[in-house]
Amino acid sequence: MAIKWIHRTVLVITLLSFSLLAFYLSTAYTQQNTPQEVPQQGAPQQHAIPLQILPKDNAGNVDWVKSLNQGIIKPLESLDPNKPSTPVIDLDIVFKVKGDLPDVVYPHYPHTQWLACSNCHPKIFIMQAGANKVTMKKIEEGQFCGRCHGIVAFPLSNCTRCHSKPKR
Ligand code: HEC
Ligand code: HEC
Ligand code: HEC
Repeated sequence: MAIKWIHRTVLVITLLSFSLLAFYLSTAYTQQNTPQEVPQQGAPQQHAIPLQILPKDNAGNVDWVKSLNQGIIKPLESLDPNKPSTPVIDLDIVFKVKGDLPDVVYPHYPHTQWLACSNCHPKIFIMQAGANKVTMKKIEEGQFCGRCHGIVAFPLSNCTRCHSKPKR
């Protein structure tokens, strides 16, 4: 009889300590992941910018690259003010396309204004021209350029923004 009670007490204590631990972990997690007040350093704009005032691309969508270059928007590099800024490189890669369709120019410059090298290299693209077997089908299936274009960057329906280098 006494042994049974000891067992029960031990079980109850174990369960209690597990739930306490779970509670502690969940509050610690929420605290860590609650967005903190962004420090005023670098004066981030708190008000929304109406999309109508932003420049548009050839398809009538917001041209985020122009918006940045014209200084209309100034995105923070990171929510963490201590994170070092990421480098920008000016390197165009041409993907030759069979047939009459213009070749694709992949420009590093505008991408590295928004993204770090590690956002693409080496998981999405091996860092070597011609090393990735990119096709339009794979892009449409969400690989390579399609990891972002059509999701967070301008849509795949805008053929000529990528196929921008006419053959003649
Ligand atoms: C948005 C994606 C993306 C980002 C971000 C990116 N790259 Fe690339 N990079 C590419 C693509 C696409 C290629 C061409 C791959 C191919 O031809 O198969 C490439 C190729 C390269 C090459 C090979 C060039 C050659 O001639 O062989 C180098 C070097 C390179 N990138 C460096 C960088 C560095 C450094 C950064 C960060 C400053 C960076 N890349 C950021 C997409 C990216
Ligand atoms: C985000 C950039 C991007 C957009 C937008 C885009 N393409 Fe492509 N496309 C590529 C790349 C990169 C390749 C690979 C080039 C190669 O063959 O090496 C390619 C290849 C192709 C090819 C060659 C054959 C194949 O399947 O690989 C065709 C045809 C093509 N695209 C048609 C289109 C059409 C039509 C549209 C618009 C509806 C379009 N693309 C929009 C990037 C793009
Ligand atoms: C990791 C995400 C990512 C990948 C992968 C990616 N892009 Fe982009 N791309 C962006 C973002 C973000 C922008 C800027 C926002 C916009 O224009 O919609 C952009 C802009 C562009 C622009 C506009 C440049 C300008 O000067 O206006 C071109 C062209 C382009 N991408 C082509 C490509 C091609 C071709 C590939 C594949 C070889 C590719 N991108 C892969 C995220 C990506």
